[in-house]
Amino acid sequence: MTCDSTVDVGRVSIIGAGKVGSTLAEILLEKNIANVVLLDIISDLPQGIALDLIQAKALYLNDRQIIGTNDYVDTADSDIVVITSGQPRKPGMSRDELLKINSQIVVNVAKAAFAHSPNAIFIVVTNPLDLMTYLAWQTIGIPGHRVIGMGSLLDAARFRTFIAMELGISVANISGMVLGTHGNLMIPLPRYSTVNGIPITEIMDDSAIARIIERTRNGGAEIVKLMKTGSAYYAPAASTSLMIESILKNQNQLLPCSAYLQGQYGLENIFLGVPCLLGSQGVGKVLELDLTDAEYSALINCERKMRQTIEMAQKILNI
Ligand code: NAI
Ligand code: 2OP
Repeated sequence: MTCDSTVDVGRVSIIGAGKVGSTLAEILLEKNIANVVLLDIISDLPQGIALDLIQAKALYLNDRQIIGTNDYVDTADSDIVVITSGQPRKPGMSRDELLKINSQIVVNVAKAAFAHSPNAIFIVVTNPLDLMTYLAWQTIGIPGHRVIGMGSLLDAARFRTFIAMELGISVANISGMVLGTHGNLMIPLPRYSTVNGIPITEIMDDSAIARIIERTRNGGAEIVKLMKTGSAYYAPAASTSLMIESILKNQNQLLPCSAYLQGQYGLENIFLGVPCLLGSQGVGKVLELDLTDAEYSALINCERKMRQTIEMAQKILNI
């Protein structure tokens, strides 16, 4: 057994010990990526999950630490705070009601976590993703490169998976790029999606590409329909762990994430999914892809929708 408890691997606080949060905690521990604090509003829930994970850790043979808590004091001095707290839509609840509830949760959680970890990088997972990322950023008022939304990376993982399934080629050989909002308006980019460098537009016909794009857009809904209760969590947690690893290890991986735009793509003061270099500063750089007119107008469509949603949330929250 290697004893590496003295190695400084970084401290990640996950707010929301539900499906995504607890799965993310497990990945971070099993892959030896970070020490973890798992916080939830429900008494004893994060403590119970942490105890289970501590016992799993005895079998992983590493010395990463995990704390389960209901108190933000325990999250102090985190390098990264991940927000997965939220409520699912319940029968009879309107979208506006859900938006109001989750917006309030994210605003409160961001404030409380920031008070104890003022230097952290914040990764937002709660839906609606790009809006929640914007609200977290607006609430804590830190530079935009330190607030990042996880959405397009999951969408790109789904796009890559469906391309691999269609072609019968290892997903390890497939790269995929998706821009825009995490939702129905997302923009999978076949021209920038390749099999070992060969754009899929050269090896797949238009109808197969269109089918895969449609399946990617419905990727989350397809899983919800099958699971009946709850939504996807393994791929969302795996996507978030990749972002965390790239930041903590300053790897500068190029990953599509919801990032604060300050003139890139001609857009300002908004969070949208774009290719980002993720390193110790958070978003080190946003890469500006050369887009066709149709791709660019799809991005503007996402922007328009986002601005409407932000306005609506600000009215609801009275901020
Ligand atoms: P879940 O319902 O299993 O977990 C949510 C947890 O948040 C619960 O344990 C709940 O007690 C906790 N919570 C609620 N209010 C809180 C508060 N004020 N403080 C601390 N904890 C609080 O949900 P799941 O499946 O883990 O999903 C979490 C969120 O992530 C949802 O909004 C979901 O839509 C979103 N999601 C986003 C994805 C993306 O690609 N961005 C992918 C998958 C999920
Ligand atoms: C998903 O795409 C629910 O946003 C979540 O699976």
